[in-house]
Amino acid sequence: MNKTAAALIVAAGRGTRLSDPGNRQPKQYKLIAGRPVLSHTLDAFLNHPRISKIMTVIHPDDTALYGAAVTAAECTVKDKELLTAFGGDTRQQSVLAGLKALEDAGCECVLIHDAARPFVSETVINGLLLQLDAGAEGVLAAVPVVDTLKHCEEPGQPLRTIDRSGLWAAQTPQAFPFKLILDAHLSAAEARRSDFTDDTGLAEWAGVSVKLSEGDPGNFKITTWQDLSRAETQVKQAPMNQQNRTRPPLSELLDVRTGIGYDVHAFEAGDAVILGGVAIPHGRKLKGHSDADVVLHAITDATLGAIGDGDIGSHFPPSDPKWKGASSDMFQFDAVERVTKLGGRLAHIDVTIICEEPKIGPHRDAIRQNVAQICDIPASRVSVKATTSERLGFTGRKEGIATLASVTIRLPLSENE
Ligand code: CTP
Ligand code: MG
Repeated sequence: MNKTAAALIVAAGRGTRLSDPGNRQPKQYKLIAGRPVLSHTLDAFLNHPRISKIMTVIHPDDTALYGAAVTAAECTVKDKELLTAFGGDTRQQSVLAGLKALEDAGCECVLIHDAARPFVSETVINGLLLQLDAGAEGVLAAVPVVDTLKHCEEPGQPLRTIDRSGLWAAQTPQAFPFKLILDAHLSAAEARRSDFTDDTGLAEWAGVSVKLSEGDPGNFKITTWQDLSRAETQVKQAPMNQQNRTRPPLSELLDVRTGIGYDVHAFEAGDAVILGGVAIPHGRKLKGHSDADVVLHAITDATLGAIGDGDIGSHFPPSDPKWKGASSDMFQFDAVERVTKLGGRLAHIDVTIICEEPKIGPHRDAIRQNVAQICDIPASRVSVKATTSERLGFTGRKEGIATLASVTIRLPLSENE
């Protein structure tokens, strides 16, 4: 089941390791590709459909710089709430200030992120949300350590090689159920512990079990001048990255393809079914390894069918415990990403839900809107229909729900076709 999520971006540091007497702006306001670092970071969360509120923790001296970063953000999404709070002398204090200021916002989860990591991708955010939705207490984006590691007290002293297997380098975002991480931070403050440099370290101290999610080497933190020039190169070399992706107009995508999908889930004891990401109160729920969203599963299979890229089971095997309880929008995000990587776009989705109950009519619009948001297309390009099977067969006997989906995608026409 999807949990509501806020982003907490800490941007109150002074960037002393990247200081320049001629330009006193802290690193999160220095420019990459002509825009402040923070505006790139904001875009990553503004463009993510699951993030509804973004709390940026800033230094009291930086209000004008923050305003300029928001103006420079390229996102056109309008329904996000942007909030600010003032930070403290340490990162830990800044996070706590942001959490306190978010307390009344009512989000179930929070993704805590450094403003100085402008390249956080939708895939990394999705990986964290997937584990939170499945009930994790804390999730850390991290990358495997690739360099050989040595331990040495100081140069000139004998060194010792450290086995790097099982070692990971921590990144942000670090994601938690909101109340749990707020309580952990309050306990640390009460115990006068002020030395935590990241939130999963603090959470571990508070007894929280933290899980790992694959990060991305491109999601590096800008700390030094070398990092800033690497960031500039990364933006220039990757015009197709998340922040800068410009989608080709449909009129240029001449290769039109259609895929079909079909899925069935049986009822079991419960109180709601999830269809197209919408929870519909009902006397029973659908049984399945993930959240059993029969509508999204059919759509994902149809999307994969249209690009000839296997099926939902081949990408997300039910035997893998990782997908237990998973929110099925993750599967569709992945399928849409596969279409995007081919230079294509989804053009239309048509769904037929087959069941005697629950009644779909009252929820049709909500399902339509939600599917459109997940697939990043206008609701006018999504159709949701429902039918009974005249009391015949398993759907007629009210044993479960079946769904048919057809997805039309458009791809660039290859030169030699
Ligand atoms: N941060 C913060 N409040 C602080 C210190 C840090 O919000 N008192 C934020 C920074 O703005 C940054 C993130 O925490 O986005 C990670 O910290 P770091 O990379 O150490 O940034 P700075 O502290 O600004 O840099 P430096 O240590 O070089 O001074
Ligand atoms: Mg610092």
